[in-house]
Amino acid sequence: MSQVHLGHIFHVTGQPTVQEAANALVSIPDGALVVDGEGRIAYCGARAEIPDEFRGLPPMDHRPGFLLPGFVDTHIHFPQTFAGDAYGGGQLLEWLTRCIYPSEAQLADPVYAQRAAVEFCARRLAAGTTAAMVFGSAFPQAQDALFAETRRRGLRMVSGRGIQTTGESSVAPLITSEEKAIRLTESEIDTWHAVDTGRVDTALLHVAVVPRFALAVTRATLRNLGELYDSVRDRGVYFHSHLNENNRPGTGEVDSTKQVYEVESYLDTYDGKFMPGSQVGGKSLLGRRSILAHGVHCQDAELRRLAETGSSIAHCPVSQQFLGSGTMPWKRTIAAGVTVAAGTDYGGGDEWSIPRVLSAAFKVHISEPGEDGVSMHPAEMLFTGTLAGARALDMESRFGNFDASKEADFLVVDPAGTPSLEATLAQGVRSDDPVLARDQTLFALLMGMDESTIAQVYVRGRRVDDR
Ligand code: GUN
Ligand code: ZN
Repeated sequence: MSQVHLGHIFHVTGQPTVQEAANALVSIPDGALVVDGEGRIAYCGARAEIPDEFRGLPPMDHRPGFLLPGFVDTHIHFPQTFAGDAYGGGQLLEWLTRCIYPSEAQLADPVYAQRAAVEFCARRLAAGTTAAMVFGSAFPQAQDALFAETRRRGLRMVSGRGIQTTGESSVAPLITSEEKAIRLTESEIDTWHAVDTGRVDTALLHVAVVPRFALAVTRATLRNLGELYDSVRDRGVYFHSHLNENNRPGTGEVDSTKQVYEVESYLDTYDGKFMPGSQVGGKSLLGRRSILAHGVHCQDAELRRLAETGSSIAHCPVSQQFLGSGTMPWKRTIAAGVTVAAGTDYGGGDEWSIPRVLSAAFKVHISEPGEDGVSMHPAEMLFTGTLAGARALDMESRFGNFDASKEADFLVVDPAGTPSLEATLAQGVRSDDPVLARDQTLFALLMGMDESTIAQVYVRGRRVDDR
C-alpha cells in the first residue's frame, strides 16, 4: 500500500557534482512524496499534480513541516558513544592516549557494549542519520551488539571492527596478534555482511575492513589486509580508516606516519606502497567503497589518487575544530574531483547531527584565508550531508535523494520542535528573488535545525523512530 506524505520538499536531484548541486536543488513548497508498498519513491512533486492513482489515498500531512532525504554520516565511532567531549589536554594523539583508548577498552564488557549499542543507535536515529559508515569496536561481541541493534532499529549501516596490531601501553586492550586481526575481520564479514537480505545490493547492513589508522597497524597487517580486501572486493565489502588528520608540529599524526613508514605520502600506506621509499609491498585498499576520514593535510598527488581510485573523503569539521586538526581545504579538495561527504566523527566531534557538521563546514570554509575562502551554497551543504554520502557509500543508485524508484529514506522536519528555528523561518526577511528566497529558507533550516527538529525518520519507506 502506497503512502502519501505532504510537506515542503527539499532535495538534490540527479547525480550532480558538488559544484552542480545548486542547479540540481529541488524545492517544492506544497509538495507530495509518494512511497510505494516496497518503500520506493513513486512520486515526488507538487501536491496539486499527484498522479490519479494516488489521489484517493489519505495523506500524512506534515505541513508546515519539511521533507528532507535522510542524513548520511560517513564517519562516526561506535566505541566512543560515551566518550564525547572528553578532555585530555592535548590534540589528536594525546587525546587518543588519555581519553579514547581507555574509553574504548570498556567495550570488552558485554553489558557495557550492549548499552553502548543501544545508545549509539538511539542517538544517530534522533539525529536523522539514516545511513552511516561506523568505525567499530575492537571487540567482536560489541560489534555483534551493534549490528543486532542496528538491524532491530531498521537503520542502514556499514561497519567493521577497529583493527590495531601495534601501539603504546594504553592501547594494549585493543591490540590483537597479526593472525587474529585477519581472522576476526574475516569472521565479521562472514557473519554480518549483507546478512539482512543475503544480497549486497538490497541489504541495509554491510561490513568494512577498518584499520584504525596506519600508525595503529604494522606493515604485515597492511599487507594481510590488502590480500583480504582483494579477496572480498567483489562481495561489496568496504574499506575505512583515517587519513592526514592532524599535523601538529613535532607530535602530529601526519609526520609521524611518514617517519614510521618512511613513505612519501600518508596515503601510500593504504595504497599498497607501505615499504620504505613508498615501494610497493602489497595490494591497495583504495576504491569506490573506500572512505578516508579527514584529508585535512593532503598533498595534490594524494587528492589525485583518491579521485582516480573513486575513494572518498569523510569531511568532519566539528571534530577538526575539537582536536585542533585544521581545516580541510574545500576548494582544492573538490577541484581535485574527490567525493567529499559529511562525517560527525563522534566522539572526536561533539555533535551527533549532520546539520551541525554542515553548519561548521559553512563557518570554517568561509573563514579560509584569502582566495581559499568560500561561502558554501545551501544546496552544496544539503548535497554534502545526503547525496554525497550515498555516493561515498557507493549506494547513490539506492538512496540520497527523492528521484523516482529510489529507496525512500527521508525525514519529517518540524521547525516547531526548535522554537528559535521556527521563529527564524516565520519572521526572517526573504529576498524578492524567488531563487534566493528558496536558498535562504534552506540555509536557515540547515543552520538552525537540531535533533529536536526531527519529528519522524523513515528508512526504505518504513518509519523507524517509533521502535
Ligand atoms: N585517528 C586514529 N584514531 C582516531 C579516532 O578515534 N578519532 C579520530 N578523530 N582520529 C583518529
Ligand atoms: Zn575518526
